[in-house]
Amino acid sequence: MKYEADKNRYDGRMNYNRCGRSGLKLPEISLGFWHNFGDVDDLDISRAIMHRAFDAGITHFDFANNYGPPPGTAETNAGEILKQDFSQHRDELIISSKAGYHMWDGPYGEWGSRKYMLASLDQSLARLQMDYVDIFYHHRPDPDTPLEESMGALATAVNQGKALYAGISNYPAELANEAINLLREMGTPCLIHQARYSLLDRWIENGLTDVLTDEGIGCIAFSPLAQGMLTDRYLNGIPAESRAGKESGFLQKKQVEEQIKKVQQLNEVAKQRGESLAAMALAWTLTHPAVTSTLIGASSVAQLEKNLDALNSPEFSDGELIEIDSILKG
Ligand SMILES: NC(=O)c1ccc[n+]([C@@H]2O[C@H](COP(=O)([O-])OP(=O)(O)OC[C@H]3O[C@@H](n4cnc5c(N)ncnc54)[C@H](OP(=O)(O)O)[C@@H]3O)[C@@H](O)[C@H]2O)c1
Repeated sequence: MKYEADKNRYDGRMNYNRCGRSGLKLPEISLGFWHNFGDVDDLDISRAIMHRAFDAGITHFDFANNYGPPPGTAETNAGEILKQDFSQHRDELIISSKAGYHMWDGPYGEWGSRKYMLASLDQSLARLQMDYVDIFYHHRPDPDTPLEESMGALATAVNQGKALYAGISNYPAELANEAINLLREMGTPCLIHQARYSLLDRWIENGLTDVLTDEGIGCIAFSPLAQGMLTDRYLNGIPAESRAGKESGFLQKKQVEEQIKKVQQLNEVAKQRGESLAAMALAWTLTHPAVTSTLIGASSVAQLEKNLDALNSPEFSDGELIEIDSILKG
């Protein structure tokens, strides 16, 4: 049956935050395509997740060249679904992609050369079946390529109309500052920084968010559920079908075992607040004033649904924030 988007999708439940000092707004919750959209996945479920996300007001879908597995297949599969079901909604969607990690063999298949980044963007556009992406990111800093060259490639992508905005990801504070200044000088300002941020990983608070706030750059927090650890997924062991259980290498069983005590304590705080741990963890990322959007993954519509509860999360009291901090320090 043909997909008809929910007519009430902009009914006010989802908030749209301004991305830094740009003209662009992003939904508080965005959907990432790192896992769950590759050739190894059930694409009926992938399609249903995309439908439910858009119906709930999630207007931002985040890709990278290497998402799958196998690498590239998330863009290919979702690109086909976007063409079939969302073509009349292209102007309502913010589609991002990235280049930086290994994508093809040989000296030009990863990192930050102009050669790699612009070829990768062309490949992503072909897989997505699109003329342009809204945001094109440099996925990780390249220690061996001049920053001018990598930022120049982003600027070229924008000037060619193949990307509307430039972004950076995984850049530490000082390098982010340099990249932001270069992009501004090139006339293609940096829109956003995509950084890992969750209750279990607060590195951005040590300098990066100050830079982003001062410079008027947005911040999108990836893996806000710590790949599923900040949900009920692992409270009673490691299910075989979970990310850690599949032993894909992205989330190790050992990491889960090391964090589970804190997770259980955080779960008690969530219970006192009358919500799930997932909803609390997502709402918490959004309390940071530098965070524009929190970028989740979901392997089922039911997970997505639970994560959307974060939109109704009660305000955090000072006492709750102190309790959370003390659990995290413990
Ligand atoms: N820029 C970068 O370097 C970078 C790096 C990583 C990610 N990202 C972006 O960030 C996005 C999100 O990353 P992520 O997938 O790690 O995010 P996440 O939201 O922290 O974790 C998502 C995973 O947690 C589990 N999960 C989610 N909701 C759940 C719920 N309500 N109950 C139980 N389990 C639940 C699912 O895993 P299972 O069901 O499979 O166990 C799901 O696939 C990516 O898709 C990508 O777009 C960017």
